[in-house]
Amino acid sequence: MKKLIIEGGIPLKGIVKVSGAKNAVLPVIAAALLSDGVSYIDDTPWLADVRTMCKALECMGIRSDFSKGLLALDTAGLCSTSAPEEFVRKMRASFLIMGPILSKMGQAEMSLPGGCAIGSRPINLHLKGFEAMGAQITLGSGRIAAQAKKLKGARIYLDFPSVGATENIMMAATLAEGVTVIENAAEEPEIVDLANFLGAMGAKIKGAGTKVIRIEGVSSLSPARHTVIPDRVEAGTFMVAAAATGGSVLVDNVIEEHIKSVSAKLQETGSSVEESYGSIKVSAGEKIIAADVKTLSYPGFPTDMQAQIMALLARADGCSIITETIFENRFMHAAELRKMGADIKIEGHSAVVNGKPKLRAANLSVTDLRAGGAMIIAALTAKGKSEITGIHHLERGYEDIYQKLAALGAYVKLVED
Ligand code: UD1
Repeated sequence: MKKLIIEGGIPLKGIVKVSGAKNAVLPVIAAALLSDGVSYIDDTPWLADVRTMCKALECMGIRSDFSKGLLALDTAGLCSTSAPEEFVRKMRASFLIMGPILSKMGQAEMSLPGGCAIGSRPINLHLKGFEAMGAQITLGSGRIAAQAKKLKGARIYLDFPSVGATENIMMAATLAEGVTVIENAAEEPEIVDLANFLGAMGAKIKGAGTKVIRIEGVSSLSPARHTVIPDRVEAGTFMVAAAATGGSVLVDNVIEEHIKSVSAKLQETGSSVEESYGSIKVSAGEKIIAADVKTLSYPGFPTDMQAQIMALLARADGCSIITETIFENRFMHAAELRKMGADIKIEGHSAVVNGKPKLRAANLSVTDLRAGGAMIIAALTAKGKSEITGIHHLERGYEDIYQKLAALGAYVKLVED
């Protein structure tokens, strides 16, 4: 078993370059399935989730080749409409291949997707969209099958602006007959990035990044080349880490607009945040001021940054209330932070965080990907040696995290038990 040793108490200082976004590249890889031939994806982060996705697609006849951030995907050999179960169970985003396969091949089958255990995470909205486009859905013993000779454009209202459902339906609609309108669509930057890639492939999409997306179906799509947007969650994690450790870090390769809610919250908690084109410098203030946080869909404060900001507020001067509105079971990191002396009470969808001046080093276990970000931040602030297990979660979403932290002056060591 691998574990991470962190000797905390060192302020992070220096420059860190953010990788391409995990949550953008995964749907882009799925979208490549809509064409025949080789698509190139620049700035692909070579993360466990990306490797899992490529392996799953390999079993379906797709060849992938990765070198220095460039992923080449040759979809010409697509020979299966069924994704292998062992991969699908590992990550929820694997379900994003359902829409493209169904739309292109007329049928798709896969098991229920896995992923971080942060809530029940149903897929009803994805299926509702496919059904509205004329697909017949069959559910049974953990598997889902969808069938439609040709999907038909439809008007689809999402009860909740689900990121995954918006992406899956948008991809399916590109090859459907007629016009599809997704109402109450998710507005996250990753949706816009996906629409840009689909547009480069020849899809006709308007309104991505707003609540209403209109897709006019076309008869075929061509392979394309695309550069993935920078990872706003990775950027946010380093920004919070700089603030929490009393450091000063220039976070490079960011789209400032994508991370406004985090920048604003860090300023509220007393840090200085300087934006310049493509980078953000965060310098810690004299003290951490308590602040309330509520997670919301974009452009609100991202649920994927909730754990990390909790690690910061655990040391704030005063009481902060963090309310989670996106996932119902996303406070598992609170128990780990308590092991370090944090005073956090969970009351329904809210966490009441009574800041303490210091956290103490402890043995921690990562429960899900972004909780891992919080564990690292907390351990970096606590004097002494913390041991962190469950780091495979971290490796799903933070590229070269240990090297990047070390370059900022942190003492981090990976050991094999
Ligand atoms: C994506 C992100 C994840 C992020 C989340 C919210 C990827 C690969 N993952 O996940 O990092 O935390 O957006 O910003 O991009 N829901 C339903 N029915 C559905 C689908 C979703 O009820 O069919 C609910 C979920 O249970 C959850 C909420 O909608 O409570 C948000 O989920 P969704 O936006 O779909 O998140 P993901 O796409 O899974």
